[in-house]
Amino acid sequence: MLQMASHDLKNPLGVIQGYAEIMLMELQPGDDYHDFAQDISNVSQRMLDMVTQLLDVERIEASAAGTSERFVPNEILREIIASEKPKADQKKQVLLEEIDADLPEIEGDRAQLREAFANLLENAIKYTPDNGFVIIRASVDDANQRLEYAVEDTGYGIPVELQDRIFERFYRAKQPGAEHIPGTGLGLSLVKAVVKRHGGDVWFTSQVGKGSTFGFWLPLTAAH
Ligand SMILES: Nc1ncnc2c1ncn2[C@@H]1O[C@H](COP(=O)(O)OP(=O)(O)O)[C@@H](O)[C@H]1O
Ligand SMILES: [Mg+2]
Repeated sequence: MLQMASHDLKNPLGVIQGYAEIMLMELQPGDDYHDFAQDISNVSQRMLDMVTQLLDVERIEASAAGTSERFVPNEILREIIASEKPKADQKKQVLLEEIDADLPEIEGDRAQLREAFANLLENAIKYTPDNGFVIIRASVDDANQRLEYAVEDTGYGIPVELQDRIFERFYRAKQPGAEHIPGTGLGLSLVKAVVKRHGGDVWFTSQVGKGSTFGFWLPLTAAH
């Protein structure tokens, strides 16, 4: 149901967003109508992002296991760090890597898992103010045959009374300091769906004003 509605919303939203962009090119900054067009462009882009993410979550929850391959996570981690680093740089954040050089193979849908790894890093950067620290960790837990992944930040943190709901679809804590940060509230529900589907689990700890650590583990392939 949601999926059908989302598909139907995608095209009209794309049209609105596209024309707003064209209007922006024709209008001068400072002009009232320029600002209106900018607002239309921003909000329609946000709705498009929401619809796209919602379709992703729905697809992952509804599909069978997706494609499955074996791979070492190092490459994915390099890719997501490369793509997120500019945002951290822009906020003058220090991005530290504590990643084992030769992580063993995991098995699953590479694209889905990439999203899961990326989402935690994206959130850490997003919910940490300028000049903060973000640490990305990946290691092996040999005893339990697990890949352990975690992203720690020195960000806004999440008030205890809001922590129960953050994996729910569309839920956004809007904690003090973070009220104006845009988002869909779908990222963590996607992470959870993907990780669960691959036989792992998600966790987090968070303290207001101090920061948060979000992580998950995934089973290693039997061959390890
Ligand atoms: N690293 C983090 N630090 C503080 N709050 C976070 C962090 N990650 C997630 N959150 C909170 O959890 C909510 C849900 O996260 P998510 O599902 O990724 O949605 P979005 O980022 O689009 O808001 C966020 O709106 C935010 O309030
Ligand atoms: Mg997010």
